Parts: sequence; C-alpha cells; structure tokens
Amino acid sequence: MQEQIRNINTLEELQALYAATFGKTGTMTARLKQMKDMDNAARAALNAENTELRALFKTRQSELEHAALMSKLAGESLDATLDGMPENRGTLHPLTQALVEVSGILESFGYTMHTGPEVEDDWHNFTALNTPAHHPARDMQDTFFLPNGNVMRTQTSAIQIRAMEESGVPIKMFGVGSTYRKEMDATHGPMFGQIEGLYIDKDITMADLIGDIRAFLGRFFEIDNVELRIRPSYFPFTDPSIEIDMKWKGDKWLEIMGAGMVHPNVLRNCGVNPDEYQGFAFGFGWDRLAMLKYGLPDLRELYGNDVRWLRKYGF
Ligand code: PHE
Repeated sequence: MQEQIRNINTLEELQALYAATFGKTGTMTARLKQMKDMDNAARAALNAENTELRALFKTRQSELEHAALMSKLAGESLDATLDGMPENRGTLHPLTQALVEVSGILESFGYTMHTGPEVEDDWHNFTALNTPAHHPARDMQDTFFLPNGNVMRTQTSAIQIRAMEESGVPIKMFGVGSTYRKEMDATHGPMFGQIEGLYIDKDITMADLIGDIRAFLGRFFEIDNVELRIRPSYFPFTDPSIEIDMKWKGDKWLEIMGAGMVHPNVLRNCGVNPDEYQGFAFGFGWDRLAMLKYGLPDLRELYGNDVRWLRKYGF
C-alpha cells in the first residue's frame, strides 16, 4: 500500500485510493471497526499503520498539487517581448490647452488672471462700460436677458469693471470666461470663451497695446514676424477703437480682436481719474484662436464633447 501511494501520479487517482481506504466502506475503515476484538499488540500495529498511511496520503497530495502548479506556471510563461495592449492617452481638450497657453503668455507679460460671474448685472455688462440704457451699441451684441433684468454676460469686459472697482489702478489684468450671445454659425456659437486684457497706468499708449498684441500673437502662433493690420472700429468703452487683423499663412488677413484706449467715462465709472490714468483694453475669443492654431473647421464641435472628432484632429 505504501508503495502504491508513492507511485500514484494524479490527484484523481490518489483521491480514489484514499476513498477506497478511509471512506465509509474503505478497507482501513473496515479494519478499524474490528479493533475492539484485537489484542493490544495488533491494535497498536493497526493504529500505527493508520497514522502512517494518512501521513503518506497527505505528503503525496501536496507533492502532486505542487507539481500541478508548477506545470501550470510553465505553460503560462510570460513573453516580455510581445507588444503591449494599445492604450488611449488622454489629452487636454483643445480649448483648455489654448486657455492654458494664452493665459501663460499673458501672465508672463505681467497680466494677472481674473474671473467673474456669468450672470451679470446691467451695470457691469453695459452701463459702466459706457453703454447706458438705450445706447445704440447695446444692439451690437444680441443679449440673452433674464427675467430679473440681469443678463448672461455678453463680454468679459464686465470682469475688468469688477477688477477696477475692487483694486483700483494701476492695473494690468485679463479677464477670462464664457460669454453668451444669440448667434450660431460655423465660427460663432451662443457661448464662447473670451479673454480681455486691461492695462491702466500713467503713461500707457496705443504703442504699448500693439507691442503686447504682436508679442502675444507671435508666441501663441509660434510666428517670428507677426504682420498686423490695424483698422479703425467702434466700441462704446474704448476711444479710439481699433480692430486688429493678422496676416495668416502669408496670404489672408484674419480678424483677431477688438481693442482700443479705455474711454474716460469707463475710468470715471470705476472711480479712476482719466486725467491722471489711462490705458488700453483688448478682447478676443480664445476658442477662435484655438481653431486657428489647431486647424479646426467648426467652432461648435469644440463644445460637442465628441472624442472621435477630437481624435481626428490629433487630440
Ligand atoms: N468686448 C468687445 C467684444 O466683445 C471686445 C473688446 C474688448 C473691444 C476690449 C475693445 C476693447 O466685442
């Protein structure tokens, strides 16, 4: 029997022999039942045999289990030279990426970032910006009005008013956030991301404005000699007002932003003496800049959250 146990090579056979030995009708079970009729010597011998056999079964069982585990592991060997599973790496959304870049550049020029509420009161969105009630320039932006007279912010200029009210002048800041207008086509959505810079101090001129904008566009679009075209324009809160175009890929002019010298009335509305301080403001849609930089055709897609579209453009 001992030999037999040692020679068994599968767990199944071992189990079968164990059952045939120690099971209800097993051979050892039957012999143990007769123990009461045995003399002491025979009894001791049977006990010893019983113990020995059980130990043998146990040993063989763990040997066979170990062998089974080893052969399983050998079959599952790891090939470290195989290619890994392809993984999609996440990236920042193009809008976020553009915002991080734009604000990084402006901050490096000394502008500090400000934000403000998207639901704005009339004062900050219009009146303080030299656009009182019934001013025709209110029609320049198709506004979403709320029942209580507040508006969905149409321009981040509102943030500039808040910043001047809070910290006075001199000030060099930019406001950033979403703005809302009733318009919708490939380059305009009802919501867009706007950034507006403001620099007020004692000797700030239009030349400072153009210098900063040229440097900013050069850094953002990675162009060495940015060609700008300055056109006269109109905004109620700047005087003179200009529109800045940029030469794009050597042939066309693109309208990039509105800007101008801050209107004395705006400064007065924020408690600033315009005879002492003056400066400039500029504003642009940063989602439009992102479209240009990354070659995206439709602004609305930027807000669509469709990963397939983003992948197509390399994000
Ligand atoms: N707020 C203007 C707009 O939304 C842009 C602008 C900002 C123009 C600052 C001049 C100065 O159209």
